[in-house]
Amino acid sequence: MARLTNKHILLGVSGGIAAYKSADTARRLRDAGAEVRVIMTRAATEFITPLTMQAVSGHPVYQELLDTNAEAGMGHIELARWADVILVAPASANFLARLAQGRADDLLSTVCLATEATVAVAPAMNQQMWSNAATQTNLATIKKNGVKIFGPAEGSQACGEVGPGRMLEATELVTLTAALFSSGELDGLHIVITAGPTWEALDPVRGITNRSSGKMGYAIAAAAMEAGARVILVSGPTALADPERVQTIRVQSAQEMHDAVHAHIHNAQIFIGVAAVADYRPAQVSAEKIKKQNADMALKLMRNPDILASVAALAAAPYTVGFAAETNALEEHARRKLESKKIDLIAANYVGDDQGFEAEENSLLLIDRENIIKLPTQAKTKLARALIQQIAQRYRAKYGAKIHRLRS
Ligand code: PMT
Repeated sequence: MARLTNKHILLGVSGGIAAYKSADTARRLRDAGAEVRVIMTRAATEFITPLTMQAVSGHPVYQELLDTNAEAGMGHIELARWADVILVAPASANFLARLAQGRADDLLSTVCLATEATVAVAPAMNQQMWSNAATQTNLATIKKNGVKIFGPAEGSQACGEVGPGRMLEATELVTLTAALFSSGELDGLHIVITAGPTWEALDPVRGITNRSSGKMGYAIAAAAMEAGARVILVSGPTALADPERVQTIRVQSAQEMHDAVHAHIHNAQIFIGVAAVADYRPAQVSAEKIKKQNADMALKLMRNPDILASVAALAAAPYTVGFAAETNALEEHARRKLESKKIDLIAANYVGDDQGFEAEENSLLLIDRENIIKLPTQAKTKLARALIQQIAQRYRAKYGAKIHRLRS
């Protein structure tokens, strides 16, 4: 079954008899794990009610561009940013024409214009309308603009005619939508990723840790898997579920994380250290709960192994990516870590003041020895995909096709 776990799919419904299939499409997108929001054009509401679409999507349906209540909730720009993919199903001949012209005269066309997400359309219309030169010209225009076209199928139509113009079935639309997330950029590669905090025990009930939730690292693991990699995620203690189709190894301490990474790194072509690893651990771990005694108490700490630096120092080191979590002088500190840990690429982020740790969104400064680029603030899931794309490009530039022979 196609997987869309945690993907944000904005389902646009334009006016046409095939709108009756939109309810099934919304339901099957959700079955595949997607979060679905729906925009309906005014014409679409003549064929299927917003109440039906609300019931199957689990959210109120967006209809009007200039709706004060809707704008106070998730406004049209926010909706455009929220979407990972906008799927317009059915897409009528009129909607295709408006998309080709770049119109912004209703909510659906405006959001399509305002989004950076992939827009896919599932055309549905009478076969004569489909074959019309005007429709084919509009299709060519939107294709050139990067819009994906799903279908249409051929067969008997609601109007009694036979030919091309039938909207694809919901299951086919879900499969095609899921395929949009599989770039294949990391096909055949093995990747080891660390994520989350570490827990350095003081006694059976206390320890030293930090605020890492694991969200960034888990999102990167999912994005790498979607890009075709075989992923091993070595995770410190988090409240998150294991990402699908990712081999997840749960550890507690930095030493355990180090050992788990080194047990699996020999097969890996890429290592990404996202975990917030404790630099120090208590020199002694008490077997019993430590009792309160004096007014003050000193803790002796000792250095933990540096996992990232140890991977980069391997004789057959993988392409090694580190993170830098900084509260100030982001670029300067990150460059120092890039050099001192001898890694290929560093992804630097600000932390503290609700940034980085635990947050749903993040931004990254990517620094290697040739380039520096900024990945702007966005949901960690989207940021992770952008990061994986950058890593795949750099990896290919460094090793080309040779790598499979070198490290297999
Ligand atoms: O988990 P979230 O709540 O989503 O938050 C994400 C994040 C802020 C934790 C993440 O984006 C991030 O910045 N991770 C790195 C945190 C960190 O420990 O940074 P650092 O600058 O202290 O360490 C530099 C690099 O060395 C990191 O790649 C770290 O994994 C690695 N390191 C550090 C110490 C150590 N003993 N071993 C290591 O491998």
